[in-house]
Amino acid sequence: MLQDQPYRTKSFNLHGLQGISDKTVDLHLSLYEGYVKATNVLQGRIADFLKDGTVDQEELPAYSELTRRLGFEYNGMILHEYYFDNLTPQASVKPDSTSSFLRQAEASFGGYERWKTDFSSVGKMRGVGWAVCFQDPADGRLTNHWITLHEHGNVAGFKPVLVMDVWEHAFLLDYPPSQRGQYIDAFFSNVNWRVVDRRVEGDAQLRRAA
Ligand SMILES: [Fe+2]
Repeated sequence: MLQDQPYRTKSFNLHGLQGISDKTVDLHLSLYEGYVKATNVLQGRIADFLKDGTVDQEELPAYSELTRRLGFEYNGMILHEYYFDNLTPQASVKPDSTSSFLRQAEASFGGYERWKTDFSSVGKMRGVGWAVCFQDPADGRLTNHWITLHEHGNVAGFKPVLVMDVWEHAFLLDYPPSQRGQYIDAFFSNVNWRVVDRRVEGDAQLRRAA
């Protein structure tokens, strides 16, 4: 990103989801906006250190702290964009029989339901973070992972194909913390499988071209 071109908040039309209230969506989108702003602020402050062409020894502690925080804010911004983008008020309950994701889930897990059990169970893990289904671009294989906070657990080079926020702010207005499973059921009522398919197919095209 060039310094004079900060990230912009993307817009998502997500009112009318099943089991996730408009109030939750609005709260969540405003939190996401905070991540975009914080990412831009941190990148600007880090760029200030680089203006004279060097990071001096006395600047290193502040530079290091800002850079660590950037990992948190940056991943917070990007994961939220994946999450909102893979939701829709016009969802189908599960991928249809021609879905590229469905084929890949069957190949990787031996069946869609088995993949879903694994993904949902990752989402029920204690703590705040994310359940993410990643695809290995090298062979197309899918694996589900737990991301602590926003930045710990992302697999280098793997592509997120389905992202579920399980921080409590994602559902606390609709379900108590002990009912995270109900939120996960609601999440699955709203998945935009077309978007998920497009993410999977992007890498398949690259592999065919290689
Ligand atoms: Fe969130």
